Amino acid sequence: MLTLSNVAVSYEGSRILRGVNMAVPARSLVCLMGRNGVGKTTTLKSIMGLVKLESGSVQLDGRDLTGLKSDQRARLGIGFAPQGRDIFPHLTVWENLKIALVVHRANAADRVARVLDLFPILKDMLGRKGGVLSGGQQQQLAIARALLADPKILILDEPTEGIQPNIIELIGATLLKLKKEASISILLVEQYLDFCLAVGDSFYIMDRGAIVAEGPISHLNDDMVKRHLTV
Ligand SMILES: Nc1ncnc2c1ncn2[C@@H]1O[C@H](COP(=O)(O)OP(=O)(O)OP(=O)(O)O)[C@@H](O)[C@H]1O
Ligand SMILES: [Mg+2]
Repeated sequence: MLTLSNVAVSYEGSRILRGVNMAVPARSLVCLMGRNGVGKTTTLKSIMGLVKLESGSVQLDGRDLTGLKSDQRARLGIGFAPQGRDIFPHLTVWENLKIALVVHRANAADRVARVLDLFPILKDMLGRKGGVLSGGQQQQLAIARALLADPKILILDEPTEGIQPNIIELIGATLLKLKKEASISILLVEQYLDFCLAVGDSFYIMDRGAIVAEGPISHLNDDMVKRHLTV
């Protein structure tokens, strides 16, 4: 279980996160939603140790992560596929994947085989440069790379952004499979409402740096959507 307690973050003196409380229970898929610029990515960065918390804390299975660097957090079992995917364009697909293997060295071949079975398209592209892949292929590579660290929790920042519908469907099915078969919990930042409704167990809605609504995904109603999500 991942928990955020009263997390506050500022950039250059302006408050971006104002006391965020969230929980991602084991074997559950949680959607964090909200309009552009409300602080979703900053929330994920605070989990990964990529921004400094002004106050509050992040805990994984009861362990306080304060002071740990992002690679240490990865080793504890947090996998992260960032917004915009962060693929190395001049490295091949295989080299992009190999970088993630340094997190854990054991059973590397097995782990690579498993993620390539989840995203078979990558098998045919191992020798291609990351930069020539389509957006959908890069997203699959980014998720595959995050999974190679053998995470207990997988964190994805807008994986459907700019991706065509059939790949969105594949990503959704893969997340459900990972949750069910590998018992991975998932925190998904997403603005595509139908995708959240299709795969989510529960939701949080963020507005101007604070959580303004939360609950089981079936409780997400039109009023919340109109007030906090539609532009
Ligand atoms: N490094 C930074 N320095 C200063 N301000 C920043 C920095 N990163 C983000 N911000 C600001 O913090 C706010 C929240 O940004 P964040 O990226 O967390 O939003 P978001 O909800 O992920 O948005 P989007 O949906 O567009 O990805 C925005 O106003 C943004 O301009
Ligand atoms: Mg963002």
